[in-house]
Amino acid sequence: MTSVLFVCLGNICRSPTAEAVFRARSKGEGIRIDSAGTGAWHAGEGPDLRSRAEGESRGYSFSGQAARKVRVQDFYEFDYVLAMDASNLSDLKAIRPHDGSAQLSLFLPDGEDVPDPYYGGSDGFKDVVDLIEVAADHWLAKMCAQN
Ligand code: 4NP
Repeated sequence: MTSVLFVCLGNICRSPTAEAVFRARSKGEGIRIDSAGTGAWHAGEGPDLRSRAEGESRGYSFSGQAARKVRVQDFYEFDYVLAMDASNLSDLKAIRPHDGSAQLSLFLPDGEDVPDPYYGGSDGFKDVVDLIEVAADHWLAKMCAQN
């Protein structure tokens, strides 16, 4: 079974949204999906209410999600570890074990960041979902082509 871990900083805005969008769009494909943060400040919390509101208005479910910090073990357990921005990617590279089997990459196919919406206004949360919806389809097509 293909598996994917989405990673951002706090695991309450971007990566939970990616998890929710990917879960909806990959329904029936049998892909294991999870998300985590490079930081642990929000560990155990549910997704940010602003992310939830924007995602749920488009039909995505965030049920059952709770923030956690990324673990070294994740690099052995997941096929793909996808970082929301360049800073997340750099933090992940710093903890990745040499023999970790996961493919580590930025989430957006054009190499851009999914901008951190946490300290901004509601437009930022809309933009996050727009970017994630497009990138989710890209990764889903890639994962399905490899199976
Ligand atoms: P995320 O957003 O990385 O998309 O979950 C953030 C959430 C919390 C913080 C920063 C970014 N924070 O500083 O607490």
